[in-house]
Amino acid sequence: MEFPFDVVAVLGERVSVVDQHLRPAGRRGPAHRGDLEQQLRTVIDELGKASAKAQGLPAPVTSAARMESNRHVLYILRDAEGRGSSKAAVIGFLKVGYKKLFLLDHSGAHNEAEPLCVLDFYVHESLQRHGYGRELFQHMLKSERMEPWRLAVDRPSEKLLAFLRKHYGLCHPIPQVNNFVIFEGFFSNRPAPQ
Ligand code: ACO
Repeated sequence: MEFPFDVVAVLGERVSVVDQHLRPAGRRGPAHRGDLEQQLRTVIDELGKASAKAQGLPAPVTSAARMESNRHVLYILRDAEGRGSSKAAVIGFLKVGYKKLFLLDHSGAHNEAEPLCVLDFYVHESLQRHGYGRELFQHMLKSERMEPWRLAVDRPSEKLLAFLRKHYGLCHPIPQVNNFVIFEGFFSNRPAPQ
């Protein structure tokens, strides 16, 4: 996904981490430059729209305004700096955040929990199935110090279910009555045997 400005200046690192303050750590230049902030808002809004379109959602669940009013964390992946006049492009993003949920365990009992939730995840159409999703997910797991089977996933698409099965062996969901999906190991804190 390309933009008419330098995304390296806007995002900083290859994987930039953005929270409600909309100020990626590792970004070069003055922290408060207004144009960089506006450009970051544009990147987030466009990514949110593209993700909603890819999932067939009626409206984006990710936008700069929503980021500011929630304690969510966005991991945004960009490609390498372009040479000469070519600009770097944004590859995709992953959004996570803690949510209070009532979750059913194996016996059907309700448990109040506040897991880290996968809330939105998108890799540009032209770059899917090239390992970028995994790169983003690994970065998030390391940064959040999280094990994959401890996550709750909000309304996962078929592609995301296949992704979790392939890369993390998450193939045994524990049935829920809400839109979240959790997997074997969530309550016992260890992965299921495959
Ligand atoms: N069909 C089936 N499985 C797919 C597809 C697809 N079109 N694309 C990716 N996958 C799964 C497969 O397991 C695939 O492995 P395979 O190619 O050996 O079958 C694996 O993901 C590939 O892993 P990566 O290359 O690391 O993943 P990718 O960069 O494609 O990112 C993502 C995965 C984010 C799900 C991407 O496919 C995407 O943006 N899809 C469209 C949007 C979407 O569905 N997002 C999730 C919404 S739900 C939520 O966010 C809570």
